[in-house]
Amino acid sequence: MAINNKAATADAAVYNDKVVRQFAIMTVVWGVVGMLVGVIIAAQLTWPALNLGIEWLSYGRLRPLHTNAVIFAFGGSGLFAASYYVVQRTCHTRLFSDALAAFTFWGWQVVIVAAAITLPLGMTQGKEYAELEWPIDLLIALVWVAYAIVFFGTIGIRKVRHIYVANWFFGAFILAVAVLHIVNSAAVPVDLFKSYSAYAGVQDAMVQWWYGHNAVGFFLTAGFLGMMYYFIPKQAERPVYSYRLSIVHFWALIFTYMWAGPHHLHYTALPDWAQSVGMVFSLILLAPSWGGMINGIMTLSGAWHKLRDDPILRFLIVSLSFYGMSTFEGPMMSIKTVNALSHYTDWTIGHVHSGALGWVGLVTMGSMYYLIPRLFGQKKMYSVPAIELHFWISTIGIVLYIAAMWIAGVMQGLMWRSINPDGSLTYTFVESVKATFPFYVIRLVGGLLYLGGMLVMLWNVVMTARSGRVEPVRIPAVQSAHA
Ligand code: HEM
Ligand code: HEM
Repeated sequence: MAINNKAATADAAVYNDKVVRQFAIMTVVWGVVGMLVGVIIAAQLTWPALNLGIEWLSYGRLRPLHTNAVIFAFGGSGLFAASYYVVQRTCHTRLFSDALAAFTFWGWQVVIVAAAITLPLGMTQGKEYAELEWPIDLLIALVWVAYAIVFFGTIGIRKVRHIYVANWFFGAFILAVAVLHIVNSAAVPVDLFKSYSAYAGVQDAMVQWWYGHNAVGFFLTAGFLGMMYYFIPKQAERPVYSYRLSIVHFWALIFTYMWAGPHHLHYTALPDWAQSVGMVFSLILLAPSWGGMINGIMTLSGAWHKLRDDPILRFLIVSLSFYGMSTFEGPMMSIKTVNALSHYTDWTIGHVHSGALGWVGLVTMGSMYYLIPRLFGQKKMYSVPAIELHFWISTIGIVLYIAAMWIAGVMQGLMWRSINPDGSLTYTFVESVKATFPFYVIRLVGGLLYLGGMLVMLWNVVMTARSGRVEPVRIPAVQSAHA
């Protein structure tokens, strides 16, 4: 007993970095897996025969596997790792509960493996980004509640009075995702593998896209802004440009995102006024989004030279440029007349991946390059030139991917609406598919480069882990707001 107490006291004096390490490693592993599936489906869109006639490898089944793997496995593991690291460092305390934190790690991995088995088997609720069947949904809810207890419990036992802004963003992401997941997943099970949504008709569509858009706003944005607010100042060794701006854009962002969902349902059975509300709030959203981007980029003011020789900082800052680009493009696409052209085309896919590869991907990679050496008692990654190589091939990959999709998208939209003087369509649908082919090849090349960068990262992480050692990090005495 006495020995146990001693161990507990010794534990309390150091951070719980084990769970951070586990999530950080899995971020890289799931990144490779999710992007590989992305490359496979990009190849299938180019040469459909690549599904080999096997139902489990068909495009319709692998596509949700790709989105779930990159968003929830890669992005999710990165968010768990970063939030657990940041909340301990900024609160000068160990995680609230080691057991619950371990449960979130293993529970989340079980969710991912269950997704990887059930989606190729064709088990799905058919709601985008919420495909998983009800037993897996229940496990997600349990893991998420445990995550909320660990995170907010740690805030509760903090030794620093002030709550650093990164934790505001992580906190909003955790709370919003809990509400979104629980409301949108409400379903009536018919057996272990099949359920039907609790909502019907246009209400079902509205709930789904309230969820879908806020999955973008809170999962793919607020959480990663939390990462940005900690790792950019740390890597640049500068304070955040404007703390006041961070608070203003935080409240504006989380208030506005909640109302923008109907822009996914333009020209549908959803009442027209609801579509217009979605459009107006999407346009307003430009301001808080750019507030965040400006705050992050300007954190570097006076230290721009660091971009020249610090590839990690480059990952982080370039991610913000893509964030700015996609949050300019999004509001434009939400204008109904623009959406009339862009919807159903590859323009949407270009927009998605400028946010996903450019913002989510790069900010996660930059943050992991900061974290991983520290988690293995090292000052830097095993190979800095390899980080440099990763930066360049992934950036070139993104540019190829999104430029190809933009051109293909606008071309498709224009071809589909082109009409002859007698009122007949100028082009058949197949002609637009044929015209898209070269752009699909370019997108595939871009995807291969991006995946190649991720493989370089995996190698670098393995070498860093092998040459490093795991040492407990002592919690310093409280002096300042952020460690
Ligand atoms: C090697 C990198 C990647 C490649 C080659 C790739 C490829 C693809 C392809 C081919 C599609 C289907 C497009 C279609 O239906 O026409 C897709 C969809 C999607 N991908 Fe990726 N992807 C990659 C990385 C990522 C990453 C890192 C994320 C997120 C962090 C992501 C998020 C998504 C989302 C959300 C969709 C669905 C878009 C929609 O329904 O409009 N992808 N991806
Ligand atoms: C101010 C911010 C943003 C606004 C107003 C916005 C708006 C839009 C609009 C209008 C669409 C097209 C809807 C359609 O025609 O079906 C769309 C699609 C999408 N956006 Fe954004 N966007 C924003 C930022 C982002 C960011 C930063 C990301 C990623 C990190 C992102 C990810 C997506 C995804 C995944 C879709 C495809 C949804 C689907 O149909 O499956 N968006 N967005």
